[in-house]
Amino acid sequence: MDKLLIQGGTPLCGEIAISGAKNAALPILCASLLSSDSLHLSNVPRLKDVSTMLRLIEQMGVEVTHEGADGVVLNSRGLNNPLAPYDLVKTMRASILVLGPLLARHGEARVSLPGGCAIGARPVEQHLRGLQAMGAEIHVEQGYIHARVGAGGLKGARMVTDMVTVTGTENLMMAAVLAEGETIIENAAREPEVVDLANCLVSMGAQVSGAGTDKIRIRGVQRLHGASHAVMADRIETGTYLCAAAATAGNVRLTRTSSAYLDAVVDKLLDAGCDIVAEREAIRLKAPSRLKAVSVRTSPYPAFPTDMQAQFMAVNCVAEGSAVIRETIFENRFMHAVELIRLGADIKIDASNAMVTGVDRLDGATVMATDLRASASLVIAGLVAQGETLIERIYHLDRGYERIEEKLGQLGAQLRRIR
Ligand code: EPU
Repeated sequence: MDKLLIQGGTPLCGEIAISGAKNAALPILCASLLSSDSLHLSNVPRLKDVSTMLRLIEQMGVEVTHEGADGVVLNSRGLNNPLAPYDLVKTMRASILVLGPLLARHGEARVSLPGGCAIGARPVEQHLRGLQAMGAEIHVEQGYIHARVGAGGLKGARMVTDMVTVTGTENLMMAAVLAEGETIIENAAREPEVVDLANCLVSMGAQVSGAGTDKIRIRGVQRLHGASHAVMADRIETGTYLCAAAATAGNVRLTRTSSAYLDAVVDKLLDAGCDIVAEREAIRLKAPSRLKAVSVRTSPYPAFPTDMQAQFMAVNCVAEGSAVIRETIFENRFMHAVELIRLGADIKIDASNAMVTGVDRLDGATVMATDLRASASLVIAGLVAQGETLIERIYHLDRGYERIEEKLGQLGAQLRRIR
């Protein structure tokens, strides 16, 4: 298993380009299941999760052609096997995103029920309830969701989700675009990735309005056609590099991205004492020599994202003063804290609150990555720590950060992958 060896203590300085968003690319790849024409995608990040999703839809009969560094063309004319098997779903929960499109286009799907994961139980009953409201018959047997639609196909419905769910909203939106009549999703996720998916669906001929608000209205159409779509920039990758630069007292410019979807994170970094300049398609950050500790509370968009919580905890570990980090989305998303403590951080966990008191220095040690964003927080801490930090199990990082050691190297970080 690959490990990352970091020699800490160098401020990150320079310029790098941000990749396409993982959490936009994954549902958009699934949108290709909705049409028999080709979907041309660009700015698709080369990540493990993306290749897993491509493998999943390929074994369903979708033709996948790579074009250049970040392009992919998908054609699902030959879709013949509406199955998401356990061995793929267990490696990537976002596989559940095939359920809505498969039902809409194929009338049938068999998708392994995702189990719990390192950050929480993460059930999917909202996805199933919404599909049932549209007329799908669903039962769970031997660990698989068996879903089918009667002869009349899916019917539009009005639904209110019990909580804000990102992939739930995306799944239901994809099912509704080919359903008969109007679907209204209330309490919809407002995340920018939901909007990017909606934009892609609209360019395929779908009638979707209200994406980006908590009420999405979809009028079903008979068929969707081919389209071209560029995946939005990854706001979480952007935020992660901003935090890495902030924690190392660095000075960076991130291109092919924008601060547009990062207000909550940018505000916290400003509170911490950073200088941030938003350009049209770039963002610059200059950090002070010592940051101030800043409290954050995670919530659905547009509030502070749970996917930035671990990285911000790492920032607070070396800031001046104390801060409380409150996680409200996932019940077990503090696994990085115990690893950060191994590097010398002062963190006390009480249920969903982490009290972080900044220390003068962290010291390198061997630590273990437990999930994607936890791994990112360990990288940030390793870049700050004195001496060597060895991060084990970095396959988590490869799921969501494209060429991370190359990009950090470009910013002057001393690190290498050990195979
Ligand atoms: N929930 C339920 N029942 C459901 C659906 C969700 O109880 O049917 C709960 C979850 O357990 C959680 C909360 O609702 O407590 C929100 O979960 P959500 O469904 O929004 O999460 P998700 O769609 O599974 C996506 C991202 C995650 C990100 C969350 C929250 C993708 C592929 N994944 O997950 O990204 O943390 O939204 O913003 O879009 C990551 O990239 O590292 C990552 C984990």
